[in-house]
Amino acid sequence: MLPIFAANWKLHKTPQEAKLFFEQFVSEQNKSPVKGQVVFFPPAALWDCTHQALKNSGLQWGAQNIWTQLQGAFTGENSVGTLKAMGGTHALVGHSERRHLFGEKDEWTTEKVALLQGQGLTPLLCIGETLPERESGRTNEVNERQLRAGLAKAVAGAPLIVAYEPVWAIGTGKVATVSQVAEAHAFVRNLLRELGFAQAPLLYGGSVKPDNAGDLLKVQDVNGFLVGGASLEVGSFRAIAEA
Ligand code: PGA
Repeated sequence: MLPIFAANWKLHKTPQEAKLFFEQFVSEQNKSPVKGQVVFFPPAALWDCTHQALKNSGLQWGAQNIWTQLQGAFTGENSVGTLKAMGGTHALVGHSERRHLFGEKDEWTTEKVALLQGQGLTPLLCIGETLPERESGRTNEVNERQLRAGLAKAVAGAPLIVAYEPVWAIGTGKVATVSQVAEAHAFVRNLLRELGFAQAPLLYGGSVKPDNAGDLLKVQDVNGFLVGGASLEVGSFRAIAEA
């Protein structure tokens, strides 16, 4: 399968900065297209300018977070209905910052994945262990729990992407070693097969940079990356995709 390069911008960029980024990215894309699928996850306030910048470019975008229902009394949340109406095609579900800073529950990830698939959009389900969980030998247990919860109501055959992101490697500069990534990806890939989602691409995320992307992409079962910090500059994000 073609690799997927997903950019998680988190809470970064003004509309002007996003516009400049996309102008440069699309112009470089027209000269030399990235060999793979590119999906941007800008903050919700930038959805409209993202859509304007990316329409007809072949590049896709989505939400960093959505709520479990389409509408209602949920102050501060994002609706999948709005996302879809505005041209978004994907949404992150269960990113570790949602889980650990904002109390995202496993049960919510179940509903979010199902809702997105039901609306014809692609969930990008994020799973991964914290450092204490890894150090106490619970890496597989945590990944299994989060994967099973996220996929509990998912439909086999409907669009789905999974990202393994060890929490201790996110935004820390501490990238997981090739053998740690290989081990976790083999475990998650087996579980995906067992659960009936053998076709789902499995991305790695956590301090992916141009200088480690090449080695990581060679690891079996690594089908692309979810990139945070290094996706904020056109040069470094393209260098990852070209690695
Ligand atoms: P990072 O973030 O690349 O800055 O570590 C990855 C992520 O949070 O998805």
